[in-house]
Amino acid sequence: MNILVTGGAGYIGSHTCVALLEAGHTVIIADNLCNSKAETIDKIKEIVNQTSNENIDNQITFYKIDVTNEEAMGAIFTNHKIDGVIHFAGLKAVGESVEKPLEYYYNNIVSTMFLAKACGKYGVKKFVFSSSATVYGDNTVPFVETMKLLPTTNPYGETKAMSERILTDVVKANPDLSVALLRYFNPVGAHTSGLIGEAPNGVPNNLMPYVTQVAKGKLKQLRVFGNDYPTEDGTGVRDYIHVVDLADGHVVALDKLESGLHIYNLGTGKGTSVLQLVKAFEEANGIEVPYEIVDRRSGDIASCYADASKANDELGWIAKRGIVEMCRDAWRFEKNYKE
Ligand code: NAD
Ligand code: UD1
Repeated sequence: MNILVTGGAGYIGSHTCVALLEAGHTVIIADNLCNSKAETIDKIKEIVNQTSNENIDNQITFYKIDVTNEEAMGAIFTNHKIDGVIHFAGLKAVGESVEKPLEYYYNNIVSTMFLAKACGKYGVKKFVFSSSATVYGDNTVPFVETMKLLPTTNPYGETKAMSERILTDVVKANPDLSVALLRYFNPVGAHTSGLIGEAPNGVPNNLMPYVTQVAKGKLKQLRVFGNDYPTEDGTGVRDYIHVVDLADGHVVALDKLESGLHIYNLGTGKGTSVLQLVKAFEEANGIEVPYEIVDRRSGDIASCYADASKANDELGWIAKRGIVEMCRDAWRFEKNYKE
């Protein structure tokens, strides 16, 4: 299939492009590079060419383009017969979304609306959307797809909840379309080549990139946000999922999607606390990660992990990689990474 991957130069998008190309699909990437680099496209090619019998360079096309530019995006749909869209492009920094709400609502929602509209106009039948466990709000773990969603705590989270609602209504009006809302838990790790991975701008907000930068000596020590949560060791519990498993989930979703709306949690179903992750990282890589306990971060919840059984039952997808692989692969990428 010819798959339009918006945000394909980004962290999850680049790993998904590798998985799509390895599965024999052709990818058309649309990314404005606001949070990624053009070199990533070459790295995607390099990874796939290492294992493929034939050169895949002509199976990947890159457009530096803003997904909210409806006219320019229309040209992509005219130039390529698109069979499916995976919509990763979006702004994702929670704190920044509080400071710049309009930028977040515009970028993340208008892009979703334009792409859904283009699917109707150009006869595209499959749409996969990057949602987030953040839409569950402070629910009781494990989070199940059938749960009533609770309020999110920031504009970023709202853009995901709203995009889900928009796409739900679009499917109701167009029953031939298949839409998958994939709710990611906490993606971490990197491709085993060490060529692509997570390289946030500035000081990382998320735990794993913070840990890898402390390990590298770029940051002095980790600040653990609270140790008084009602969890095993008092620190926050999350469902970390290897980004390569997550990428595979998109390929399976595209292959198996029937028409209608389908919501899947993509997580491991296992919760890991901050201190457990730090320990796993130290053991996996033989490096000490100094930390101090500080106050809770506002907007954080105690525990967030998936009931991941629906994706397994319906798609046959399961996360295969454990926390040690996640820590090892995240570190390999960070070690090799040059700004
Ligand atoms: P990322 O920032 O690495 O990738 C997003 C890509 O989209 C970047 O390459 C960026 O340049 C591009 N982009 C942003 N706005 C654009 C626009 N208007 N036009 C064209 N390109 C644009 O982020 P990621 O971690 O790979 O996340 C991908 C998607 O998954 C996002 O929608 C994010 O909200 C969602 N998500 C991420 C996480 C996570 O922890 N990483 C968790 C849940 C959901
Ligand atoms: C955060 C966002 C969420 C978003 C997700 C992916 C918030 C409140 N939530 O999720 O909306 O979908 O990232 O981008 O920002 N931690 C530390 N020290 C750190 C960093 C994190 O102790 O320096 C702790 C956190 O308190 C949490 C855990 O590590 O318990 C994971 O944090 P993080 O990686 O930021 O992910 P989430 O908070 O789950």
